[in-house]
Amino acid sequence: MRGIILYKSKYGAAKKYANWLAEETGFVCDALENISVGTIAEYDVIVLGGGIYASGIAGLSFLKKHIDDLQDKKIIVFCTGASPYEEKAMLEIKNHNMKGKLSNIPLFYCRGAWDMSAMTVIDRNLCKMLRKAVGKKAPSEYEVWEQALMEAGDSACDWTDKKYLAPILREIQR
Ligand SMILES: Cc1cc2nc3c(=O)[nH]c(=O)nc-3n(C[C@H](O)[C@H](O)[C@H](O)COP(=O)(O)O)c2cc1C
Repeated sequence: MRGIILYKSKYGAAKKYANWLAEETGFVCDALENISVGTIAEYDVIVLGGGIYASGIAGLSFLKKHIDDLQDKKIIVFCTGASPYEEKAMLEIKNHNMKGKLSNIPLFYCRGAWDMSAMTVIDRNLCKMLRKAVGKKAPSEYEVWEQALMEAGDSACDWTDKKYLAPILREIQR
């Protein structure tokens, strides 16, 4: 079984998980933008990991575009976000991102990191605006990721943990 692990990561969490998965599996690992679909099609198992930005999973547009060329492959997707894991929130992310031909692909969640000082100016301003908007709500009405965002504030948080890899590794071996 030949496998490849691809990541689309702006701030490093999806990349970190992809590299940990590569260590565990011995699969090749690279950034999605470095690899052509022709190369990817040489592998039996394709794992794609992407950060979540405003509820969208990075890298999925590539998969949507090329899914017909990868029909006979075992495809697994994981995403990294600031939110703690919650089943309902995960279902919403899945429904929002994995429609049509992507709907049967298994999706896993690995909690990522959050550091406003490391963000691009645009992202930092976006997150500040988001925080301001969320701050107007009653804390009891916060979504899980909104709560995480408010708790993190300006401090750097890193929730990456190898424990999130176990279900992905089981799916690869299934
Ligand atoms: C502009 C922006 C929007 C974000 N939106 C979400 C979100 O909707 N849900 C979430 O859980 N995390 C969100 N995050 C946090 C990122 O998902 C988190 O930092 C993750 O580690 C990103 O993956 P990466 O480190 O591989 O880039 C957002 C971060 C930024 C900068």
